[in-house]
Amino acid sequence: MTEDLFSEMTETLFEDKSILSEEYRPDVIVERDDEIDAYRTALKDVLFGRNPSNVFIYGKTGVGKTAVTEYIMNALQTEVSRRDAADELHVHFRNCNGDTVYRTVRALVNSIRGHNREKFPETGLSTSHALETLYEEMDSLGGTFLFVLDEIDHLSDPNTLLYELPRARSNGHLENARVGVIGISNNYTFRSSLSPKVKDTLMEKEIAFSPYDAGELQSILTARAEKALVDGACEESAIRLAAAKAAKDTGSARQAIDLLREGGDVAEEHGAEAITDSHIEVASERVQRGRVQNKLRDQTMHGQLILEAIARLEADGEAPVRSKEVQDSYERVAGRWSRDPLTTLKSIQNHLADLTMLGFLERTEQNEGRAGGVHYQYELTLDPEIVLETRASIETDA
Ligand SMILES: Nc1ncnc2c1ncn2[C@@H]1O[C@H](COP(=O)(O)OP(=O)(O)O)[C@@H](O)[C@H]1O
Ligand SMILES: [Mg+2]
Repeated sequence: MTEDLFSEMTETLFEDKSILSEEYRPDVIVERDDEIDAYRTALKDVLFGRNPSNVFIYGKTGVGKTAVTEYIMNALQTEVSRRDAADELHVHFRNCNGDTVYRTVRALVNSIRGHNREKFPETGLSTSHALETLYEEMDSLGGTFLFVLDEIDHLSDPNTLLYELPRARSNGHLENARVGVIGISNNYTFRSSLSPKVKDTLMEKEIAFSPYDAGELQSILTARAEKALVDGACEESAIRLAAAKAAKDTGSARQAIDLLREGGDVAEEHGAEAITDSHIEVASERVQRGRVQNKLRDQTMHGQLILEAIARLEADGEAPVRSKEVQDSYERVAGRWSRDPLTTLKSIQNHLADLTMLGFLERTEQNEGRAGGVHYQYELTLDPEIVLETRASIETDA
C-alpha cells in the first residue's frame, strides 16, 4: 500500500495547538480534588431549591481558579437538569477588571437578556436603577442565579455590589429568584479590604487555591500534551523540566503550558522530532525575554530612555553610575531618537527612584566622606542587551 506511505505524516509536532492556548477549556481538571470537593459542598444548596451560598475563590494567577469554576458550573448545570427538586439554574460570568458597579450590573442585565433584546444603556441611569432592572429580569425568569465575578478585586467599589446583591431576596427585591455570588480574586487580602458591614452580612465560603508544585504541574502538562501534541512528540523529561521551571518561578499552570507550547515551537524550528530538555531551556529564555520586553514597553517614554541610557553605560563597562552620568547619557540617547529630553537633574532622579521601585534598577548608597556626602549609584537588574534590543525594536515599530 505504497500510496499510504505518507498519509500519517504531519508537518508539525502539534496535533491541535489551540489546546495549549489561553482560550482552551479543559474538560478534565487534575490535581484539584480537594478544592473541587469544597466547591461542590459550598454549592449543593442549589440542588435542593435553597438559597445558594456566596463563594469566594482566592489564589495567584494561573492556579486554575477560572478553569475549575467553569468546570464546576458545567457539572452543576448538568446535575440541576437531572433533578426535579432543583430550580432552573442561570449562571452568568463577568470579568470585573476595571468595572464600576454600574458596568458590572449592566453586563449581568445584558447577559440575562441575551442577544435578541435591547441592551441596557451604557450611561444616564443610576446604579440603583441598574440593580432594580437586574432584579426585574431575574424575577421574571425565576430560578437560581449564580453570578461569577472574576477579578472581583479589580471592581472599583465592590462594597455596594456585595452588600446589595446577596441580600436582594431578604430585602424583598426578589420573589421568584434566588441569587449567589461567586467572587474570584488574585488577592488574598481582598476580604479584609471590604467594609465591616459587608463582611458581616456576606456569609461566604472561602476556597483557597495554592500554587502548584512540580509534580502537580507535571500531571497537568502530561494531560494537556497528550491532546495537544502528536504521539511521541515530547520527551517525558522535557515535561518534567517545564513543570519544574514553572513550579520554581510562580507555580502557575499557565506559565507551564506557555513553556511547553514555546518549547514545541523551538523544536519545530530545529526540525526535531520531539521536544527535548534543551528546547525547553531555549523556550524558557525566550519567555523571560518576552516578559522583560513587555515590562519595558509599559514604561513611559522618558523612563525607557533612561533605562536605555543606563544600558549603554553598562555595555561600555561603566556601571554602576550616578544620576549625573545617567543624565548625560540620557541626553545623548534622547538626541539619537529625536526626542526632547527632560532638562532638570531632579526629574531624572525622580524617574530613577520610580524605576528602582519597579525593580528595573538596583540602587546602592555611596558615602564619600565628610566633603562628598552621600549619593546613589544605579545599575540595571536586567540584561542590558535585552534592554537595548527591545528599545531598538520599539523605535522601529514607532
Ligand atoms: N488543575 C488543572 N487541570 C487542568 N488544567 C488546568 C488546571 N489548573 C489550571 N489549568 C490550566 O492552566 C491555565 C490557567 O488556569 P486558569 O484557571 O485560567 O488560572 P487562574 O484563573 O487561576 O488565573 C488554563 O489554561 C487552565 O486550563
Ligand atoms: Mg482566571
